Parts: sequence; C-alpha cells; structure tokens
Amino acid sequence: MAIERTFSIIKPDATRRNITGKVLTLIEDAGLRVIAQKRLHLTKEQAEGFYAVHKERPFFGELVSFMTSGPVVVQVLEGENAIAKYREVMGATNPANAAPGTIRKELAESIEANTVHGSDSPETAPQEIAYFFKDEEIVG
Ligand code: PPS
Repeated sequence: MAIERTFSIIKPDATRRNITGKVLTLIEDAGLRVIAQKRLHLTKEQAEGFYAVHKERPFFGELVSFMTSGPVVVQVLEGENAIAKYREVMGATNPANAAPGTIRKELAESIEANTVHGSDSPETAPQEIAYFFKDEEIVG
C-alpha cells in the first residue's frame, strides 16, 4: 500500500475544550504520523479561501464563522493509505452518524463543531497541505 500524506485540522471546538491531545492519540493509534503541525487562529479570508468549494452551500457563513471562532491546529499526517485512513478515523461528518471509536463519535459536539477536518481525496490533499505549509515545514 502506498505511503500518503493528508491534511488535518483540529477544529476550534477541540482547542476550546483542551482535548487536542485526545484527538492526537486517536490519530497516532491509527498508525498515522504527524510530520508537520502548527497552531493558528484563521482569518476570515483564510477560512473563506480554504472552504471556497463550499461557498454556495447554505451553511457556508456558519462554517467560516465557526472555523474562525478560536484557534485551530493544522497538521500534515503521513502513513499507509493516509487519506482514506484518516477519513475512517474521523468518522461521519455528523457525529450522530459516526461509528464507535471514531474521533467524531467519541469527541465531537455537533455537525458544525465536529472536531476535525481531513482531506477527501488524493487531488485535494496536496492542495490543502500547500495552503498552510511550506515544504521546509514538513519533516517526514
Ligand atoms: S464532507 O466531509 O466534505 O464530505 O462533508 P460535507 O457534508 O460536504 O461538509 C463539508 C464541510 O462543511 C461542514 N458542515 C457544516 N458546517 C456547519 N453547519 C452545517 N450544517 C454543516 N454541514 C456540514 C462539515 O463539517 C465539513 O467541514 P470539513 O471541515 O470539511 O470537515
């Protein structure tokens, strides 16, 4: 299986509740390695740019406002099949539908405050990584 890189955000609901370590434990227990990480408070422009693909969706304003409501931790994760594996570890978007043991089932508060973001495909992962990280900030 291929070693891949994926992009992750630990969202403001997790920094507010001081549970970023719990999220990280679930990530590492799944065999994914954190090869870059930083804590940021996203600007409105950064969040709007990152989520531009969703700009026509009814919840876009709320999503941007939530993602700028407090600090986030952005990460690059590496491992076998990392993109699909992280989506599995995250669980369904709505925590009510997420499988037991997933980050969202165990830790998320709601469909909006759902604790983590992960790239959804091999096309978006490198784009999302490059949105936040320079090559020299990634130490594999
Ligand atoms: S996904 O993961 O892209 O397939 O999920 P999707 O349902 O397309 O949602 C895209 C992102 O929008 C967030 N979302 C919402 N935010 C606020 N309110 C509502 N109702 C809502 N529904 C979905 C969802 O958490 C996804 O965020 P990211 O950061 O991409 O996981």
